[in-house]
Amino acid sequence: MLEVKQVSKIYDGKIAYRALTDINLSIEEGEFVGIMGPSGSGKTTLLNMIATIDEPTTGEILINGKNPHKLKKDDLAKFRRRELGFVFQDFNLLHTLTVEENMVLPLTLDGEKVREMKRKAKAIAEKLGIASILNKRTFEISGGQAQRAAVARAMIHTPKLLLADEPTGNLDSKSSKDVMEMLELINQKERTTMLLVTHDPQAASYCKRVVFIRDGKFYSEIHRGDNRQAFFQKIIDTLSLLGGDGNDLSSIRV
Ligand SMILES: Nc1ncnc2c1ncn2[C@@H]1O[C@H](COP(=O)(O)OP(=O)(O)OP(=O)(O)O)[C@@H](O)[C@H]1O
Ligand SMILES: [Mg+2]
Repeated sequence: MLEVKQVSKIYDGKIAYRALTDINLSIEEGEFVGIMGPSGSGKTTLLNMIATIDEPTTGEILINGKNPHKLKKDDLAKFRRRELGFVFQDFNLLHTLTVEENMVLPLTLDGEKVREMKRKAKAIAEKLGIASILNKRTFEISGGQAQRAAVARAMIHTPKLLLADEPTGNLDSKSSKDVMEMLELINQKERTTMLLVTHDPQAASYCKRVVFIRDGKFYSEIHRGDNRQAFFQKIIDTLSLLGGDGNDLSSIRV
């Protein structure tokens, strides 16, 4: 469902910077894939290009056989809204709105009826265990609840592809586990294809496959199999081979 073909990214500027080199990545429908690598290795750059927030310098990205970067502005906006869901590290919730209002934002943009929006919000909030805080404003809820609200917003229009950049980045280990279990459940039940960038080996161990990048290049990939704990260990081993900024192991939770 997702094909990244020979993608390179060079950021123009006073000094041009090569952030990615010849990345190839193929993801099947319903897969749950993690991307790991040291800080500055190009993970967010890659995710942003898949999310159509930014464009590759060379190479192409196909989502369900189509290159979204070739769409006209309006069609691209529609495509993004209907096919993709995003979860950002800082949640990106709007603080003047309630949790429910934040959640239905993607539907508002598509002109859905209020009653239908409320029904969908309630259903997904129940699934994610945040039904009791729907009427609270975002500054009245915890980090874990905010993260779940952000996931709810990303999922409410049942996107085909969910992209998440450090979805557990600001969470304690219990909330992080909750969010990952929830994503795993959504992946299994709705067969939503998921692509997740994370520094956290515990979070990554919920993925079925983890792709490692270093210095903007593909480094290796490993598959989970049946045992999540063994996969967790494999992820740690690969990270230590990968090296990096030392920051990467700081968030290990056993
Ligand atoms: N808009 C930009 N202009 C110029 N250089 C950029 C830009 N965005 C990112 N970079 C550079 O590209 C490289 C990759 O950045 P990117 O944000 O993709 O890293 P990352 O793997 O997500 O890191 P982190 O784990 O710290 O989030 C970095 O060296 C960064 O400084
Ligand atoms: Mg990043």
